[in-house]
Amino acid sequence: MKTELTINGEHHTLDADVRTSLLDALRHHLHLTGTKKGCDHGQCGACTILVNGRRINSCLTLACMHDGDAITTIEGIGAPDALTILQDAFVAHDGFQCGYCTPGQICSATAMLEEVKAGWPSHVSADLMAKPKLTVEEVSERMSGNLCRCAAYPNIVDAILSADEAAS
Ligand code: FES
Ligand code: FES
Repeated sequence: MKTELTINGEHHTLDADVRTSLLDALRHHLHLTGTKKGCDHGQCGACTILVNGRRINSCLTLACMHDGDAITTIEGIGAPDALTILQDAFVAHDGFQCGYCTPGQICSATAMLEEVKAGWPSHVSADLMAKPKLTVEEVSERMSGNLCRCAAYPNIVDAILSADEAAS
């Protein structure tokens, strides 16, 4: 089935079996291998990408459901010689070891910081009406869908907090 996608600002026509996940479409059909496959069933967050600005697990959705959607993958966030504030903070705070989870962490945190800016509360926000303030507890909860087998969690949280501070 033909599916029209805009990925990192470029138009792509995907011709794939209707059972193809968006993750497999990105990696195997479009050769965008920055998005990682960890568990392939929604448990680890390694495959996190942005669809129309919202973070999702690309292993849990079919590519053919995204006709006309705008997708951002890690290849569309920053560049090796022009890192985003968040990517810089991951480097400065040692927010990775093997790096396998990192593309998903960066995509997820990029969208999460926008969610906070938009005032979305989390499960641990004490006041659902107040403007959320990022704390270690808030970042841990909001990033709980992204696992890191190397357990770089303290540094990931530090990186996100520092990027949030640098951007505000
Ligand atoms: Fe999608 Fe693990 S590969 S959540
Ligand atoms: Fe190795 Fe997170 S840095 S899995």
